[in-house]
Amino acid sequence: MDEFDIKPLLPRHIAMIMDGNGRWAEQHGKLRVKGHEAGAQTVDKMVSLCAEIGIEVLTLYAFSSENWERPALEVAALMRLLRHYLKRETKRLMEQGIRLRAIGRLDRLDPKVRKELEDACKKTAAGKTMTLNLAISYGGRDEICDAVQTICRRVQAGELKCDTIDDKLMTSHLDTAGLPDPDIMIRTGGEYRISNFLLWQLAYAELYFSDTLWPDFSKDELLQIINDFQQRERRFGRVL
Ligand code: IPE
Ligand code: IPE
Ligand code: MG
Repeated sequence: MDEFDIKPLLPRHIAMIMDGNGRWAEQHGKLRVKGHEAGAQTVDKMVSLCAEIGIEVLTLYAFSSENWERPALEVAALMRLLRHYLKRETKRLMEQGIRLRAIGRLDRLDPKVRKELEDACKKTAAGKTMTLNLAISYGGRDEICDAVQTICRRVQAGELKCDTIDDKLMTSHLDTAGLPDPDIMIRTGGEYRISNFLLWQLAYAELYFSDTLWPDFSKDELLQIINDFQQRERRFGRVL
């Protein structure tokens, strides 16, 4: 059978822009940080569901390169939540065989946070069930620029020739090297934009925009999206 006749049952890689925490807090008469705390619970739910149903990679957009421009107090609260998450979940991730990975400009993180993140990645490195890929201090344009810089240095060093630069080579120099491209990209919170997320990797992702604010995003809604994805005809530019 032609390989394109086979409808894969499950997406291999789901990427999510977790948006709407601030508005959720506002709707509940709370401070924005409470929205981020509530959002952290949705992270737990999504990670366990995705691992349970056999998703290979779950990428979560946790903090963008532009989010550094938010008020210092909010940035500090988000970093604190990240540390709490690592402290609370690393052991569980190890038990569940979930490998933690991080993409983004981690050198901008406070050295303590960075160390904790790297330790958690090391401790979970043998996990085979799923990769949980956290995009932190991440911007798609930064990532592409960094890849181009590395490639240029390799050309200057005589390791590579300019005309060998292709899709595959670029892909292998991105932070996501080794991971399949996302099949599904979901953005919660009702905005219809990408906000500098995985600009290269989303080339052929199926896009879903949900009005649900991230803290209210449920397992049922994710399952509905996966179900819809399974009905979609992905043509990759071809005629089927
Ligand atoms: C997403 O929620 C979380 C981060 C960007 C860290 P927001 O904080 O952007 O929530 P809204 O968009 O203001 O509601
Ligand atoms: C995108 O949400 C970044 C994350 C969810 C981490 P933002 O709330 O920062 O995006 P904009 O400002 O609405 O584009
Ligand atoms: Mg937002």
